[in-house]
Amino acid sequence: MRFHGKTAVVTGAASGIGEAVAQMLAANGVERIGLVDSAERVEAVARAVDAAAGRTVARPFRGDVCDPAFRIACFDSLCQEGSPPSFCVPAAGITRDGLAVKLDKGTGRAAIYPRETFQRVLDVNLTAPVYWALEMIARIAEDRHRRGLSRWEPTEPSEGAIVLIGSVSSRGNRGQVSYSASKAALAGVAATLSSEAIHYGVRCAVVHPGFTDTPMVRAMGPRILEEQVLPRTQLRRLIRPEEIAEAIGFLLANPAVSGPLWVDAGWQPAP
Ligand SMILES: NC(=O)c1ccc[n+]([C@@H]2O[C@H](COP(=O)([O-])OP(=O)(O)OC[C@H]3O[C@@H](n4cnc5c(N)ncnc54)[C@H](O)[C@@H]3O)[C@@H](O)[C@H]2O)c1
Repeated sequence: MRFHGKTAVVTGAASGIGEAVAQMLAANGVERIGLVDSAERVEAVARAVDAAAGRTVARPFRGDVCDPAFRIACFDSLCQEGSPPSFCVPAAGITRDGLAVKLDKGTGRAAIYPRETFQRVLDVNLTAPVYWALEMIARIAEDRHRRGLSRWEPTEPSEGAIVLIGSVSSRGNRGQVSYSASKAALAGVAATLSSEAIHYGVRCAVVHPGFTDTPMVRAMGPRILEEQVLPRTQLRRLIRPEEIAEAIGFLLANPAVSGPLWVDAGWQPAP
């Protein structure tokens, strides 16, 4: 699928993988990119994307990806400029790590991972990416209807592609009961949308990054990275966000690839 002249939506674009994806799409000729993030930094990243591309390509949108009104307003704004977005990479994500059950040996009481925290992680990492993807599929479906097109035919050009961001933690990871659940569920979403959205010419894949050099991973602290992450990574270094972005570009562009794609630098989980 061609990037030139298309519109894209990237959430979590103020940092890490989302930022690298926005830069990759701009470098490959995408015409407009909605950079979505709750962080103020999204404005500066938008300016940096424009500067690197040498043209006005970025449209920053600041807000919470879990807010449906914000999501609809972002798509309305992008659609007013031309055709609906063709690419969606909902990369905004959070970790809220903690043991599922932790016994206090002093009191003999066992604390359970907080229900509200579990729900927030699911809201940001699972429900929000699904609904940003569904919004794009819906806009494409409506646009096709307006153009008098019904079921997409293989002789037509592709209408769009979605890449959901899983994780190596989707296989389970100590201390990540909520994060692992949210990332594992995306595989089921990708499989379902793959079979449904192709009706409108839209593909959906999931990429599973390993430990990537972003603020999310740096927050784990240098000791954990040195002792627990790098020894289990064949490359013996963190993955660069640009390496994940390149893999996402491959999934978006090549219609024969359906994913899932593991971009994990040879990560082996602890036994
Ligand atoms: N870094 C890794 O090793 C790694 C590995 C596997 C998967 N991932 C996934 O990749 C994605 C990007 O992670 P990253 O490492 O670049 O993290 P990051 O913390 O650098 O960036 C995440 C961005 O999401 C934004 N965000 C978080 N919650 C939001 C909300 N409710 N509304 C709007 N924006 C919100 C943050 O402001 C931030 O800019 C996440 O889905 C993460 O789970 C990361």
